[in-house]
Amino acid sequence: MSESYDLIVRNATVIDGTRAPRFEADIGIISERISRIGKLKEKGKVEIDASGKIVSPGFIDAHTHDDRLMLSAPEMAPKSSQGVTTVVAGNCGISLAPLVLGTRPAPPPLDLIGDASWFRFASFSEYVRTLEENPAATNAALLVGHTTLRVATMKHLDAPASPGEIISMKGLVEEALNAGAIGVSTGLYYEPASAAPTEEVIEVCRPLSARKALYCTHMRDEGDRVTESLEETFRIGRELNVPVVVSHHKVVGTPNHGRSKETLPLIAERMKAQGIGLDCYPYCASSTVLSWHRTLIATKVLVTWSKPHPEYAGMDLAEIAEKMNLSIEKTTQQLLPAGAIYFSMDEADVQRVLAFEHTMVGSDGLPHDAVPHPRLWGTFPRVLGHYSRGLGLFPLETAVYKMTGLTARTFGLKDRGVLKEGAYADLCVFDADTVDEAATFARPVRPAKGIEAVIVNGAITWRDGKPTGARPGRVLRRGPG
Ligand code: ZN
Ligand code: CU
Repeated sequence: MSESYDLIVRNATVIDGTRAPRFEADIGIISERISRIGKLKEKGKVEIDASGKIVSPGFIDAHTHDDRLMLSAPEMAPKSSQGVTTVVAGNCGISLAPLVLGTRPAPPPLDLIGDASWFRFASFSEYVRTLEENPAATNAALLVGHTTLRVATMKHLDAPASPGEIISMKGLVEEALNAGAIGVSTGLYYEPASAAPTEEVIEVCRPLSARKALYCTHMRDEGDRVTESLEETFRIGRELNVPVVVSHHKVVGTPNHGRSKETLPLIAERMKAQGIGLDCYPYCASSTVLSWHRTLIATKVLVTWSKPHPEYAGMDLAEIAEKMNLSIEKTTQQLLPAGAIYFSMDEADVQRVLAFEHTMVGSDGLPHDAVPHPRLWGTFPRVLGHYSRGLGLFPLETAVYKMTGLTARTFGLKDRGVLKEGAYADLCVFDADTVDEAATFARPVRPAKGIEAVIVNGAITWRDGKPTGARPGRVLRRGPG
């Protein structure tokens, strides 16, 4: 019998990433692309029997901080184990390139992705080349971070950039786009980017306009001034005439609970006139660097890492304060630099944002935290298992769309995110009855349940609960459409 396919996924229940209802088929793959979807008589060199299982496009993690993980742990276990085949990296203003820190320590929030030794790429193209020469198991779409650019070019980080510094940053954006970046990210909430006025952001991002590249943002305020921050984001998109992505949309702080009823209609209204995307992670706790200021609006705070006090990773800040016999403020100072999980959202808001028609799924996982937020290992299976199957928040076809087709379209990733003949063979085989996160706040480092096989560019990257060692990942450019 002839073997005309390199890989056949047989007897699959296909959910194709477009929200179309599922159907039964075999999927025949030649080299890195899907060659045929239908009933296949031929044999494959390798076959996966997917009887009783769902086969969907591989998931696209719309929001990651995996810039360094792809180099330091290229099997990408936290992501491959969830069925993720592409990550969007460089978010929240934080990218590994272009920045050489040398003997300077990595300032927060850049220290979320690595210490100074990791900031060693003088140009974005150097980083892209390193990734292409040492591929990871997942594909990557890369953003260049405004905070990284500020640290690379500015003298007084606590002030707006000077005209000369803006020209330097603009040049670096141009270089990054030429090297393959799909856009710029900002983290205007964080120092030192919070010192940047809207005009600085617009000028630094000018090179986006000619290419219609993306502006993605961790907004200045996700609390009391969330609608003003949305309007600032939309204005930046309009002035540059480029699409924007509102990162990890949420409303934080008890007084703001319920305000997604205000933000989502505002987003829907503005979408009629300009390109807007948004993502969210499916939890009502956030995670980032530790700051006393942020602890004030949280009902509970867990420490995820601490440089001077690694022994407190995973513990409740209030308990640590008791142990140290200090106030929360003083305890926070003792722990810095450090990371934390903040319980500051309302579950009803999280569900409303997640269910909103245009919301993509992104993990915002922090892969280098000692005791990370469970979203790092659990985001996608949690949406499929807990929110879709368990709570019935939306059908499985919609859940898959939010992590595949919608995401590929929003980020301009051509021939990704949908299962069709000719598309890249990025696939996830999972069990709809058992898929769910296994990670918890107490034990966050655990591969998900129900993910049977993961395929990237035609190569199997995850099988039987472990990475296969294949590293077929590519750096993806932004395509038309
Ligand atoms: Zn962020
Ligand atoms: Cu982020």
